[in-house]
Amino acid sequence: MKALVLAGGSGTRLRPFSYSMPKQLIPIANTPVLEYVLRNILDLGVTEIGVIVGDRGPEIRQAIGDGSQFGAQLTYIPQEAPLGLAHTVAIARDFLGDDDFVMYLGDNMLPDGIAGIAEEFAAHRPAAHVVVYKVPDPRAFGVAELGPGGEVLRLVEKPQQPRSDLALMGVYFFTAAIHEAVQAIEPSARGELEITDAIQWLVSSGADVRAGQYEGYWKDTGNVEDVLECNRHILESLKPAVDGEVDDASELVGPVIVEEGARIVRSRIEGPAIIGAGTVVEDSHIGAHTSIGRGCAVTGSRLEYSIALDGASVTGVQGLRSSVIGRSASVGTSGQSTDHYRLVVGDHTRVEVAA
Ligand code: TTP
Repeated sequence: MKALVLAGGSGTRLRPFSYSMPKQLIPIANTPVLEYVLRNILDLGVTEIGVIVGDRGPEIRQAIGDGSQFGAQLTYIPQEAPLGLAHTVAIARDFLGDDDFVMYLGDNMLPDGIAGIAEEFAAHRPAAHVVVYKVPDPRAFGVAELGPGGEVLRLVEKPQQPRSDLALMGVYFFTAAIHEAVQAIEPSARGELEITDAIQWLVSSGADVRAGQYEGYWKDTGNVEDVLECNRHILESLKPAVDGEVDDASELVGPVIVEEGARIVRSRIEGPAIIGAGTVVEDSHIGAHTSIGRGCAVTGSRLEYSIALDGASVTGVQGLRSSVIGRSASVGTSGQSTDHYRLVVGDHTRVEVAA
């Protein structure tokens, strides 16, 4: 068994962050999403992992290298443009050979792991095994219609009138039968080779295609709201550890990680929260479900349910919530009492102030 991790794509929904970094490296509890993905695959005992990368490939290579620090053997497979999930299977043909493989979208978080899915695939070894999740509005997803025994009857990509509430998640198991399907399909109206079309081709040609319903936690971290919600969920199981300095005038409440070299000065941190290495928090109140990256400065501020990426600074701002602050970005007061806001805001950035 091999694995194919998809870490290309355009990430338009995660702008502005995806302008300067691959979305698969967005940190959840200060760890890139891609690292959780690789660990789930390694937990299956699968070590030969192909990683599809787009034009942000060099940053991904820099962050996770050859995978040896995780015990993985990574093969990078460049994709010239985001031409679709089935296109990634086609360009990985030589790497995959005729082996069974798990295809895993590199922005999907499944902290409860995928061992159960792998067992279901191994039990029947169908041509394709997809994983579905009940969602209230499946119109933004591939949608599956299933028979009574879990067999897939029909798959439709982003239907206007979905015939079930079962959305396809970003984990698929395939035998080598998928390669013929991928060669047989044509690009969709949006110009992509859709994996749903390739799987539907298998169904139509009479192949065994099955689905299992996932009961654990699943989040596609493709937009800011889902990144924040996933960060909240992961922090919920945080094991506290204080390796940095906390002065006597500060208070840590609940599970808090203070990484090495971080300093907490005259501040209150309410867990679950994580303060990254080398960060200084001074005269501030950090509320629950907050991750502060490495080398940040939080001074005279109050924030909660937020994420600050490495090198960010927040100064003199009292009510930040549901916020994501990019690398080396600064949010602060002008130091003067004026009647206006001053913004230097990048493309596709969002600022919300109190009404
Ligand atoms: P998506 O989130 O569906 O696509 P996207 O990255 O283009 O995002 P957006 O809709 O915000 O523009 O992709 C799912 C995962 O698969 C993600 O990790 C990117 C990856 N991917 C590829 O590697 N190659 C591709 O051709 C596509 C479409 C996606």
